[in-house]
Amino acid sequence: MPDLLDDDHLEQTAVVANSAMNRDRRLPAYRRELGFDPVAWLAARPGPQRWLDVGCGSALALFEAAEHLPGNTRITGLDLVGYFRGTPKPGVELVTGSVLSWSPDSPIDLITSVHAIHYVGDKLAALTRMSS
Ligand SMILES: C[S@@+](CC[C@H](N)C(=O)[O-])C[C@H]1O[C@@H](n2cnc3c(N)ncnc32)[C@H](O)[C@@H]1O
Repeated sequence: MPDLLDDDHLEQTAVVANSAMNRDRRLPAYRRELGFDPVAWLAARPGPQRWLDVGCGSALALFEAAEHLPGNTRITGLDLVGYFRGTPKPGVELVTGSVLSWSPDSPIDLITSVHAIHYVGDKLAALTRMSS
């Protein structure tokens, strides 16, 4: 049986760092794939909210979402590849990094990930970090 790649090597491969995958889902596709509406979920909660999207791709869905959320909502898009597009918006920050090493500077209220976790080798480690 061939040796499995560790995550450091996997993140450098054309499987993960390729330019052909769909990184451009918009907000309706996020709603459909997640099975709930993150905008409605955040808007229904009292006080400032923080949303992290892991493997956000172009982040177009996050920019769209920001237009419908209160100004005190903080949205963080995290992606291994800095392929962010769209017009920067207040309240949206984009981070180039891996879910296996990046840590937020404050607690997160909602974490989503759309078609991204399957690119991570150690999915259990990723989910453990996300839930902590
Ligand atoms: C198929 S794209 C989906 C992008 C976006 N969520 C969408 O639906 O349009 C998967 C994304 O996961 C990112 N990704 C893969 N491994 C990652 C990791 N370890 N940490 C953060 N992002 C990662 C890739 O760079 C890619 O942008």
